Amino acid sequence: MLSRGVSFGKGAGTRTITIFARLQQNDRVPKANIILGIGGSIAAAKTPRLVRLLRKEGAVVQPVLTRSGKEFVTATTLSALSGRPVRDELWDMEAEHAMNHIELARWADLLVVAPASANVLGSLANGLANDLLSCIYLATAAPVLVAPAMNQGMWNHPATQRNVATLRADGVQIVGPATGEQACGDFGPGRMLEPEDLAEAALQFMADNRRRLDGLRILVTAGPTREALDPVRYISNASSGRQGFAVAQAACEAGAHVTLVSGPVELETPSGVERVDVVSASDMSSVVMERVAECDMVFAVAAVADHRPERRFESKIKRQRSSIQRVQLVENEDIIGNVGSLRPRPFLVGFAAETEDILANAREKRLRKNLDAIVVNDVSDQGLGFDSAENEVTLIHSDGEELFERASKLEIARKIVNRVSDIYHSAAASRLESLVS
Ligand code: CTP
Repeated sequence: MLSRGVSFGKGAGTRTITIFARLQQNDRVPKANIILGIGGSIAAAKTPRLVRLLRKEGAVVQPVLTRSGKEFVTATTLSALSGRPVRDELWDMEAEHAMNHIELARWADLLVVAPASANVLGSLANGLANDLLSCIYLATAAPVLVAPAMNQGMWNHPATQRNVATLRADGVQIVGPATGEQACGDFGPGRMLEPEDLAEAALQFMADNRRRLDGLRILVTAGPTREALDPVRYISNASSGRQGFAVAQAACEAGAHVTLVSGPVELETPSGVERVDVVSASDMSSVVMERVAECDMVFAVAAVADHRPERRFESKIKRQRSSIQRVQLVENEDIIGNVGSLRPRPFLVGFAAETEDILANAREKRLRKNLDAIVVNDVSDQGLGFDSAENEVTLIHSDGEELFERASKLEIARKIVNRVSDIYHSAAASRLESLVS
């Protein structure tokens, strides 16, 4: 099904209107490349059915068996059903020659690990690279869906629960386990989901993560800014930059060309993202204003300092000879506010961290800054938002407000990017209709 996208705020004739194919909400994911990693659990016996179901939906399935997985399902069965040679060794020179583990990792649109034994969970959560599956997991940029399966005691153990929490925080989607009778005779949580439910979850997960921003140029601001007082002192804030980096990663996964304009942070650049480092609000403003004409969308996640010292001392201010009694502040440019008043302007998503009247403040900010949407979080709640691994946010746009419940910043970022791309595409489609009618 075809849908159309246009760049926002570009008047007819001023910019080429791009029309591109987009999967609709209910479309399946045709020709998706899925790696199915199979760990050592009795539930591995159900994976031939999972392979058949995924192939029926049009996916290409590459089974990857762990050493223990081989005890429960044969490579011959999986090869016959997938139509591909099963991969089970990291050091299989012949197989590596055809497509090595890095190429496999790049080839995948989705990595499904089912069943994920306690050992596999531990290995993935701790970044071990001691077999083919764990190497693919580390190397792939594809979304990862994990279906645990093990004895209820093993599942309930704090070590397993820690590993699951780590994987979730790393953006992995965990499905199941179900509760019920177990092969060992116990009753409790630890059963792998049925192949039908897993296939459904995999397809839904892919639909949610599909590359819906293909061809779009997106600018993301992130992190704090530093406003210098002298060569060693500055005014700043506690932003870690993690939510902005996660948004950049999610937009990149969704197919966009992403430029990340970052204040000073201690974070790795997400793969595929172009990064420009800045220090002060006025540096950030210059880079954004230079590049904004080329952008289809801006996510302003940065916690930009609203003020800077009026004067920056050339040498370090000495305690004894201090000439300053008080610091005079001047206002910084409102970067997103300035972008919001451009004509034409890109599609704009602001972020607000609030401590009181959360929603009312954010609604007012969205209108004042002329934003298409704003993402707001309550930073009065310790352990959420600023300088933490998790977040809970509300997305406010012209048609409604949606709460994204507490999750890792990457999971939140993927949800934001998904919803924002829905809003972008439907607004773009109506804009196109009004241009052609
Ligand atoms: N922002 C910006 N430039 C600034 C300040 C903020 O681009 N000088 C952007 C942020 O990146 C964010 C949004 O504006 O997307 C809201 O930031 P916030 O600090 O909440 O806005 P303020 O206008 O500074 O509001 P407040 O009075 O609450 O500080």
